[in-house]
Amino acid sequence: MKELLKEKAAIIDRALDAYLPPRDNLQSVIYDAMRYSLFAGGKRLRPILMLETAKMCGGAENEVLPFACAMEMIHTYSLIHDDLPAMDNDDLRRGKPTNHIKYGEAVAILAGDALLNKAFEIVSEYGGKNPARAMKAVSILAKSSGTEGMIGGQIVDMESEGKEITRDTLEYLHSLKTGAIIRSSCVIGAVVSDADEALVSAADEFARNLGIAFQIRDDILDVTGDEAELGKPIGSDARENKNTYVTLYGLKRAEELSALYSKRAKDALGVFGDKAAFLVKLTDHLTERKN
Ligand code: IPE
Ligand code: IPE
Ligand code: MG
Ligand code: MG
Ligand code: MG
Repeated sequence: MKELLKEKAAIIDRALDAYLPPRDNLQSVIYDAMRYSLFAGGKRLRPILMLETAKMCGGAENEVLPFACAMEMIHTYSLIHDDLPAMDNDDLRRGKPTNHIKYGEAVAILAGDALLNKAFEIVSEYGGKNPARAMKAVSILAKSSGTEGMIGGQIVDMESEGKEITRDTLEYLHSLKTGAIIRSSCVIGAVVSDADEALVSAADEFARNLGIAFQIRDDILDVTGDEAELGKPIGSDARENKNTYVTLYGLKRAEELSALYSKRAKDALGVFGDKAAFLVKLTDHLTERKN
């Protein structure tokens, strides 16, 4: 699986490189800073999910690739900002010093902003075979990364620091801060491939559960992980007084819950039959991941 994922990530890397080449002008530092985080070695999970959902729905890779790249840019911007001193205050990401450690806070903030802008530049310039479908995908991308999506989750995450919250609130914040763009990655893959409503909603249900399982695993790795392997600091959540599945449920129950959501995710893929084989394997792989 690891080798296969590397091959798929390489497709994304090539497309990202073409969308964001280095520039030699007075503002070249912003291009350097954007590329620094974008090519630091992320797993490319969201674009891979998008491409694979599209494939499962009979779609063409070139139709979704611009959205897949835009999604990875938005994800990378969210990580740059998440690491800032005003947020999680972390100094290691994807195995390298965080953007603000390397370039300073001001450039890091702008590099995040610029990746967000670039994402929408790419998808708004792309009509594809069916411009109406592409427009719908742009809207899903915008909403899922905004105040009712990733940003909303980041806000609830920060507002909950050091407070006692209910399990429902924890699920809510996980489903937004991490779940929202994992979900929209799969939904966009299905929509751009012209899947019918029932299949779009099956892909959505898959990703909704996968997103929560993925963040529970992230919470676990923040406690049990190995910094060198994970490429980011261990113990960041405890230091920042975060509410996580580990703090609310303990390690053992968190593992069980991660497995439960993964199972629900795989069950949702049933309607796709054999075509879902890769996503089923990927879900299992992510449940056991160490990075
Ligand atoms: C990290 O996401 C942030 C979370 C939402 C948990 P990933 O674990 O996908 O990070 P990269 O993209 O591989 O660096
Ligand atoms: C962040 O969750 C999710 C984002 C929207 C970036 P975390 O703060 O737990 O992610 P890591 O552990 O820093 O990657
Ligand atoms: Mg955070
Ligand atoms: Mg963080
Ligand atoms: Mg984390």
